[in-house]
Amino acid sequence: MEFPIEKFKALRTPFYYYDTALLDETLQEVKEHLQPNWQVHYAVKACTNPKILRHVVAAGFGADCVSGGEIQASLDAGFPADKIVYSGVGKSDWEIELGLMVGIQCFNVESVPELEVINELAKNHGKIAQVALRINPNVGAHTHENITTGRAENKFGIAWEDTYNVIERCQQLDHIECVGLHFHIGSQILEMDDFATLALRINELQEMLETYGIRLPNVNVGGGLGIDYDNPDAHPIADFKAYFETFRRYLQLRRGQQLHFELGRSIVAQCGTLVGKTLYVKEGSLKKFAIIDAGMTELIRPALYGAVHKIENLTSTESEECVYDVVGPICESSDVFVKDYRMPKTRRGDLIAIRSAGAYGEIMASQYNCRPLPESFTSEGLCCQ
Ligand code: LLP
Repeated sequence: MEFPIEKFKALRTPFYYYDTALLDETLQEVKEHLQPNWQVHYAVKACTNPKILRHVVAAGFGADCVSGGEIQASLDAGFPADKIVYSGVGKSDWEIELGLMVGIQCFNVESVPELEVINELAKNHGKIAQVALRINPNVGAHTHENITTGRAENKFGIAWEDTYNVIERCQQLDHIECVGLHFHIGSQILEMDDFATLALRINELQEMLETYGIRLPNVNVGGGLGIDYDNPDAHPIADFKAYFETFRRYLQLRRGQQLHFELGRSIVAQCGTLVGKTLYVKEGSLKKFAIIDAGMTELIRPALYGAVHKIENLTSTESEECVYDVVGPICESSDVFVKDYRMPKTRRGDLIAIRSAGAYGEIMASQYNCRPLPESFTSEGLCCQ
């Protein structure tokens, strides 16, 4: 990725930088693989920056939300309400009411008590709520423990074996219309076999339901496609071809069924970079530390999941390389971006880029240590200044 380094030098660090040309290219690539009865709902939780949402709206995608706040942010950005789906194990009454009032496409329901509350609230407002049942397919994805969601022990979804009973329960509730099945097995998944396994599980479930004469109009397979954190420049766009091909090949949709996807990370991760500045280089007794002004408050993924993002010194002209622990300024031992990392000799003032930070970066920022939230810039914004 080319960075406008001279313009960066004039900005206060740390900040997020989004390459919207890459984002647009990514969105186009996704669209090229879609079939007429497929719909992508961008998982807003990955990045809710309005400058990013605007591009996703322009590409014609729907939104996948997990809170009332996200529904509001999606509406504000211009997503049509009838392209919004809403998941989450713990939906508050006001959030459900917001979804009902604006007329979202579908509530992805995760339990019977939730179903009953939605029915009650829909009744109060004279509405019929369209719901999809989030079924836990008991598929273990090959990814980090904290971001796998589809196993029986996870808190998400309705148990596989309860599917028929819950559909029956929907039929008893006057203000509920069950329109689909929903699944999500985890995030940062690079093995297409995991998605193939999910597709086969869905086939199994659909066959079982058909023995009861049940066929629902929508199947939603969630998100989860991973990206290349090690080599963002070699793979700036995720392998959408392999991903969509897997579902095309293994998932047996029934006549008239719509297939829905909820991709987050794979759409926005590579276009975002966290930019910080080196404050000090400290020679410890065992290690060299490059202490930068960005920390876990701006990007918590390394501390929370042991994630490793590629780091580049944008301004060094040194040919000599050194090994550093690149760390932030926060008063926490886990405020470390990477340990024992080889990079060009670094000095105070050097700009440091932390790559592939567009997803679950800015949106997970906190104000811990009374730090201000980071500012953001886009390639469009910077080239026009
Ligand atoms: N649908 C549902 C129901 C989800 O829970 C998620 C993500 C997605 C779609 C989008 O998944 P994606 O395509 O982005 O993998 N903060 C973590 C990731 C948490 C993912 C939560 N759910 C991280 O930084 O790795």
